[in-house]
Amino acid sequence: MKVAVYPGSFDPITNGHLDVLKRAASLFNIVYIAVARNLQKSTMFTTEERLEMIRGCTTQYENVRLDSFDGLVVDYARQVGAEVIIRGLRALSDFDYEFQMALMNRHLEKKIDTVFLMPHEDYTFLSSSVVRELVKFGGDISGFVPTNVEAALLKKIRR
Ligand code: COA
Repeated sequence: MKVAVYPGSFDPITNGHLDVLKRAASLFNIVYIAVARNLQKSTMFTTEERLEMIRGCTTQYENVRLDSFDGLVVDYARQVGAEVIIRGLRALSDFDYEFQMALMNRHLEKKIDTVFLMPHEDYTFLSSSVVRELVKFGGDISGFVPTNVEAALLKKIRR
């Protein structure tokens, strides 16, 4: 049984994240999408809102579980019996940060490896902050996020 954790801030989840998730779900028996609660950065959406948005666009996956976590990602991975941490690599610019995090995580727990998956090239330039900025200034985000996320973003900025 191969269990993986896909951690992230998911503020909000985008089609790029979903592309990575689809690939992970086809490679592992169980994939936990783990929403980080205590992040260094401030978020547009609360943890519960981020979870709700993910729930709304991942129901088709029988082997994907949704959860949130505090503290270190390796501690969470141990808790759920995962041997693998999934991270998406969009471009070379992601590499330094991801490399450092993967090596630190391996230092913290040598039994857990990080597996990098490349999303489709259409999503190379996509990030949650780009989506947040676009929606604030009235840009079209329909190709970048699922419809339930688009609705949540529009609702949030109209408040
Ligand atoms: N498609 C679109 N965007 C993507 C993407 C993809 N496939 N992959 C990454 N991104 C973007 C995200 O949208 C996000 O964009 P933003 O900064 O504009 O919001 C950015 O890349 C990074 O996001 P994310 O993947 O969520 O990672 P993160 O840097 O927010 O880190 C954790 C979140 C949870 C992985 C990390 O902070 C963590 O592990 N925290 C726990 C503490 C810990 O264990 N640290 C490691 C050891 S010190």
